[in-house]
Formats: sequence, C-alpha cells, structure tokens
Amino acid sequence: MLYLGALLLSCLHGVVAERHDADLMSFVTLPEVRALKWEVTHHDRERQAPGYWFVAPYGQISPEEATKKYQQYQVGPYIYDNDGILVWAGPILFDNRNTFDFKANLNIDGDPHLSFIVIWDRENRDDKGTGVIVDKHFEVEHTVTPPENMSDFNMHEFNILDGGKTAMACVYHSQEISLADQGRPDETSWVVTGGFAEFDLETNEVLAEWNSADWVSVSESKLFLATDNPARDSGSSWDYVHANSVDKNEAGDYILSLRYTNTLYGISHDDGSIMWRLGGHGALSDFAQDFTFSKQHDVKFVSSNGSTHVISFLNNAGDERGADETMSSALYVELDTEAMTATVLKRFNRPDNGLTLLRGNAQSLPNGNTFVGWSERGYQSEHAPNGDVLMTAQFASSRYSTYRSYKSEFIGRPNTPPDVVASVYGTSNIDMTTIIHVSWNGATDVAGWNFYAQAYDRGGAVLIGHANKTDFETMYIVDGYMDWIVAEAVDKEGNSMMKSEVTRSEAPANWHSVGFQGATNPSPDDPSLLSAAYDKISSGSSDEHDDSMGDGMDMDHEAPSDDSSYANAKEVAQSVYKAYEVIRGIGGLLIFILVSSSIGGVLYGIYRVVKRRKVRSYQHIASDDDLPMEEMNLRSRAE
Ligand SMILES: *[C@@H]1O[C@H](CO)[C@@H](O)[C@H](O)[C@H]1NC(C)=O
Ligand SMILES: *[C@@H]1O[C@H](CO)[C@@H](O)[C@H](O)[C@H]1NC(C)=O
Ligand SMILES: *[C@@H]1O[C@H](CO)[C@@H](O)[C@H](O)[C@H]1NC(C)=O
Repeated sequence: MLYLGALLLSCLHGVVAERHDADLMSFVTLPEVRALKWEVTHHDRERQAPGYWFVAPYGQISPEEATKKYQQYQVGPYIYDNDGILVWAGPILFDNRNTFDFKANLNIDGDPHLSFIVIWDRENRDDKGTGVIVDKHFEVEHTVTPPENMSDFNMHEFNILDGGKTAMACVYHSQEISLADQGRPDETSWVVTGGFAEFDLETNEVLAEWNSADWVSVSESKLFLATDNPARDSGSSWDYVHANSVDKNEAGDYILSLRYTNTLYGISHDDGSIMWRLGGHGALSDFAQDFTFSKQHDVKFVSSNGSTHVISFLNNAGDERGADETMSSALYVELDTEAMTATVLKRFNRPDNGLTLLRGNAQSLPNGNTFVGWSERGYQSEHAPNGDVLMTAQFASSRYSTYRSYKSEFIGRPNTPPDVVASVYGTSNIDMTTIIHVSWNGATDVAGWNFYAQAYDRGGAVLIGHANKTDFETMYIVDGYMDWIVAEAVDKEGNSMMKSEVTRSEAPANWHSVGFQGATNPSPDDPSLLSAAYDKISSGSSDEHDDSMGDGMDMDHEAPSDDSSYANAKEVAQSVYKAYEVIRGIGGLLIFILVSSSIGGVLYGIYRVVKRRKVRSYQHIASDDDLPMEEMNLRSRAE
C-alpha cells in the first residue's frame, strides 16, 4: 500500500505549487491566522546568536482600508524562531492595523516586553497612532499617544531606552518657514519638519522635543533646491529632512538621522544645539572621514564613552530617485569627537549585493553579531563580527515587506490556554482514530505536548500520548474514539506549563456518508479501558510494531495485529500521515485520488481533515506595481 502515498505525493507537488496562497501558513487551531512563510538559508548555524525574529509585515505602507468583512490576519507584528517557524501571530491584538518597529525589549522594569507602533487609522482620523508596549503575557501594558498639539505618531521609531522609563519617537510637523537663508527674503514655503520627542513612559509627558526648523536649513536638503517653487500649503509641504531614527547615550545626548540631508547629527541634551554633523557628502561634515554614506536609516549608539562613540546604521546608499553606491551596507563607525575623526570599524554589504532603496535597519547583537533588516520582502541577514554571512532569509511572499527586522531572545507566556481541535475518523468500530491539533500562540520554550482523554467532560484524564513540539502547531494521532481531549504544554524538564480547556472531538455529521461501515454510529471509547487494553496487548507482543511515525508516543500502543484489514488500513493511514506532514511543510490544497478499496473511507476521513484546513482564500492583494514610497502619508495633518 505504500506506493499509494508516493503516488499521492507526486500528484500533490504540482497542485500545491500553483496555489496563490502557498506562501502563507495555515493552521487548524487558528484558521484566521495566515502568517507569512520564510525562505531561510543557514550558512553557519553554530555562530548565530540565540534568539527569535521580530518582524511586522505589511502589504502597503499607508494604513489599510478596513474591509468590514471577516479577514484573515496577515499584517502586523509576528515573532518567528531562527528557522522561520511561527512563535506569535500578533495582528489579532490590533486587527490587521499596520505596525512598525516591532521588537523585544528585555529590560522594561526588569522584564521582557514587546513594543511597536500602530500607525494612524484610516477609518478613525481621531486615532493618530500609538506606541504600544505589550508584556510577556501578550497583554497591552502601556500605550503612548501623541499630545494634542503633536501630529500623528510617526512610523519610523519607537525607541524605548533601557529600563523603560522613557521612549523616543520621531516627530513630523507641517509649518511655514522663511526662505531668507536661500537668498529669497520675501518668500516662505511650507515644509515638513523632522525631529524627535522623548516621552516619559509613566506620565506620557513630553520631556524633550527637537524640531529641524530651528536648526537645519533647507539648503542642507539634497531634495530641494534654492530655486524650487515654494510649497503654498501644508498639503504640499516639502519633506526636506525626513527624520527616520533617533537614539540617546548615557550622557543624555542624542543622535538623529535625517535621510534627505544624508547626515547624522549629534545633538546636545543641554540646549538642543547641533554639536556635530557626520555628513556623507556634505562639506558640512565636522569629521575627517574616508567613506561616504547616503539615505541612511536606523542610527544607534553601540557604545559611548566620553569623546569616543561607536555608532551603527544602515547605509542605504540610494533611494527611489537613484543610487550613490552599487550596494547597501550596514556600517559601524567610530567617532572621536576630540580629534574629529570618523572611522569605519565594520562594513557588512548586503549579501546579494543589492540595494535597499527604502527602509531597513542594522542591529548589534549581544554576542557581537549583527542582524540586518534589508526590508523589501523581509530580506534579512545575520553576520559574524568578521563579516561572515551566517544566515539569510526572506518572506516566501513577494507581496509583503517589513520596515525593520530584529533578532532577540524573548520569553512569551500567554495567559490564554493552548488551542486544541480534535476530530474523529474511522470506517469501522475497530479502526477509529482521533486526530488532535494543538498550538499556543506566543508561548516560547514549549518542548512538547502531553495529550489526555476523558470519557466525558468531567471524567478522569487518562494520558494517551506525548509529542515533541517541532512546529507552531502540533498534530497527534491516537487510536480509538477519544471524545474529550486535553493538551498540556510541557517544558524541556517535563514540567507542566499550561493545560488547554477540555475540548470535545468533532465527529462527522453523517458517519455513513464518509464511508463508515458499521450498522450503528460509533460510540466514544472509555480512554481508561482502552489504555488498560493497550497495556495488556503491548506486554504480550512487545517490539513488534514499526514505529515509523516517530511522533513521540511514549505509550506502547499497538492495535490488535491479527486483523489484517485493520493492519492494512493502519499502514495506509501512516503513509498518508507522512504525506500530510510533507504537505503541511509546503502548505496548501490536497487533492486526494480516492481509491475504491476498503481503506477508501480512512483516506477520505483524513482528506476531510486536510480539506478543513483549506480556509477561505486570501482576501487582500496589495498593489505592488511600484515600490511603496516611503514618504507617503508621513505628513502631519494640516494643523
Ligand atoms: C505642545 O504643547 C506643549 C505644552 O504646552 C509645549 O511645551 C510644546 O512646545 C508644544 N509643541 C508644539 C510643537 O507646539
Ligand atoms: C573609555 O575609553 C577609554 C579610552 O578608550 C578607556 O580607557 C576607558 O576604560 C573607557 N571607559 C569605559 C567606561 O568604557
Ligand atoms: C523528543 O525529544 C526528546 C528530548 O529532546 C528526545 O530525546 C526524543 O528522542 C524525542 N522524540 C522523538 C520521537 O523525536
């Protein structure tokens, strides 16, 4: 019978490849979650830092239109492990709202947290967007909303400083400025200013605010010329600096990246004055430097000690209008603010030698590695200190990007119990099978699952098996009609983490229509009796069975082996299960060729399990004709 499985597999490969949603994951336990799949290449696993990936895929950079209809979750914060296996699907929290700068913060009041920006709401213009802090139980602990006189929460940065007392964000304003220093004393133009604010996370108070209009002339911009027509209203304001990242060192001074001046600014905490400029092309640079950069993103202090600062940033080296170098790179630069020298310590080129013309980030990891988000299609890489590329990955889907990508250790402990779905199948009373699916959205460190069955909803729980956790969702197949199921998450020491609710198995509405041969509908087994029977059988005929399913059954269950049709059915069920496992990996539609034999019913039963997985096809296809323009919708509202 095994040839059947092989035959099915060869047919399925062709079918699956054509599915338009084959780049999305799907789960029995969380059918509303369609997380993006990854294509991952590990070049050297040994030297990678421990941790998970934090990304926030979006289809379009501006807020999505609400559909007012049921829509599957795709856009928003997600955690994956180092192999691209889903750990947490977060869009449920904010219903597919566009999310940026999603990352872990290991020390907010001494505890791991998550943070991200939910940008302004197209449906409700009173909602200017929010900085969100979520605890390790995935409950919103704190939100930061911009005060009355501040524009929308800017999408670029939500930089929670260590300890979690304050956070920094970029701030954009539309305002009218004089063009006097352009030699046009009688003229004014509307501009979008770029700056930052530091918020007190306890009180939401703005502790400091800095505005480019006070310090950075339009003549520093690479985008607007002294001869350009001034903008007459706030709606057409020149986005002349485009602030896109900010950080603060222990001395309290700030570093700010302005993309359209190709410059990084050191800003004094005393009076907001510009202490120095590090400018890629400008004569304005205060440093002697032997390198250039442009259209940069994500400047951060790596260390800062007196007059020596090590900073990291992404040198995009180009934008939608053109490239200044042939490829983008992550740079570590040492600044000596006494000698006024700037030296490149490390340069990590984009592994595919490409250009990231929009967005992106570079993150220094605790073990000395560097994690780089190249943004488009979620392309990301991890680099050893010597520059070796240790890992590259991208979304299987070309429809999505993420503004930044991070890697970090994290502990997730959901307060909600694991989700379980169980179903019963069979063609006769002696071949009943219960298939259990379990997942626990956001839980880290789950090593495996114990499964229990109960004869009725409050009956005694009988351990019916164990499976190691290898994926977001774990499937487990057990002999017999198990009516009430509990799944228990266990850590690697075998300690219980949490149990699911007692969940009733689903059965076919009409047993005969799915191939059941018995005279009357099957009735549930008493798990304690079945367990005793198994123990008896297995002590009589030990080590006979082929445990090729290898799914971690720790109880030596063996069905009566003198029934040859049962044995055949089991063999087919096993090969189908293997086929199923492979298909889970690639995801998508199963078309089973039903064979007319006594085992057809089993096949059809399993076909139905899989068919249920074929949830509604993907609803929203973001237009991807052009690169999404980063500056779209970044403007303040007319003030
Ligand atoms: C907003 O209001 C606060 C408090 O009145 C003030 O300190 C701040 O400068 C204002 N900001 C802007 C951009 O008007
Ligand atoms: C600061 O830098 C100096 C010179 O490199 C070094 O001697 C000193 O130990 C550093 N201090 C700290 C706190 O890192
Ligand atoms: C389950 O995990 C444990 C611990 O890592 C391992 O010893 C065991 O072999 C695994 N079982 C299977 C069936 O993979």
